[in-house]
Amino acid sequence: MALEKQEIVDILYGFQKTQILFSAGELGVFEELTNGPLSSKAIAAKIKANPDATERLLNACVGLKLLNKTLKDGETIYNNPDSTTKYLTKSSPDSVRWMTNLNVVYPMWGQLKDCVVKGDRVSSEEFFNYYVTPTTQLEFMRSMHIICSMDAPKLVNVFDLSSYSVACDLGGSTGSLAKALVKAYPTMKVTVMDRSDVVQQSRDFMSEGRSEAISYSGGDFFVDAFPDADLYILAHTFHNWSPEKLDALLDKIMATMKSGGALLVLEKFLDEDKSGPMESLLLDMDMLLCAEGRERSLSEYKEKLEKHGFTDIKSKVVENALWYDAIICKKK
Ligand SMILES: C[S@@+](CC[C@H](N)C(=O)[O-])C[C@H]1O[C@@H](n2cnc3c(N)ncnc32)[C@H](O)[C@@H]1O
Repeated sequence: MALEKQEIVDILYGFQKTQILFSAGELGVFEELTNGPLSSKAIAAKIKANPDATERLLNACVGLKLLNKTLKDGETIYNNPDSTTKYLTKSSPDSVRWMTNLNVVYPMWGQLKDCVVKGDRVSSEEFFNYYVTPTTQLEFMRSMHIICSMDAPKLVNVFDLSSYSVACDLGGSTGSLAKALVKAYPTMKVTVMDRSDVVQQSRDFMSEGRSEAISYSGGDFFVDAFPDADLYILAHTFHNWSPEKLDALLDKIMATMKSGGALLVLEKFLDEDKSGPMESLLLDMDMLLCAEGRERSLSEYKEKLEKHGFTDIKSKVVENALWYDAIICKKK
């Protein structure tokens, strides 16, 4: 396996493209163009930026195909291509705009070298660097919401969960997985357990697709009792913790579960030789930078679950899900 020189240069300068997209998004360029094309001067006035620098940024966006430009009545005007309207404007239901919470992510990734030397996060005592302020916490929740909502309808159908009547999604954040669960299994009740501050912030998301079958419980899953359930879920919540904390969490789940109960783990598996897939490798870097945990191969997940007494372990690589694969296991 070898790369061409240009491919290496593309990796080296990848951050430049990210910053062009991020800056245009943060300045509101794509939003300003939702009502139709505008000249660079008009856009600069709307986003309150320097006209010459704005024109140069807009041209860089054209180079990346994030914007189109045409000549109309002797004036150059810029407009959003369909893909930008669909994926980068705030009001679009398919928007991935909130995945770009780069105010937190970008400086954090600048610490990667130091993290590798230290073997741990360099900056924050918080659960996540994202949770240091309510604003960055909400940004993080929005990005999780988008990421989980995209894959959730596929994830709830990987295994037949119809024999479970009450589920509890530990670290279920805004309830995106819970919503997909009650849609797929109309008789199921789901409790989302998350930190009280997250449950409080979730109220914006709860109004979207609200369901009587979903309830929210604020608490610390290391300290407080879990809501009763015959199906517990850890989605992108297994990978967050140090081995010691993960052991404590799995022990607690095992002790709380009744015989016949199940645990559904949703995480993106690393290949057994840890050379892919790229999404898992990047998530693993994220874990190193912002949390205490790591990504794992399927055999590492199985080993951990077996150590805590879980049996009947079944797994599935979910081909059409971007950020999750699935494992289900039981308590005898
Ligand atoms: C990486 S997010 C995953 C969110 C969601 N399950 C998903 O797949 O999108 C981890 C979640 O665990 C929650 N969490 C962290 N520490 C917690 C604790 N001690 N008690 C309860 N929830 C916690 C976070 O607030 C966050 O919502």
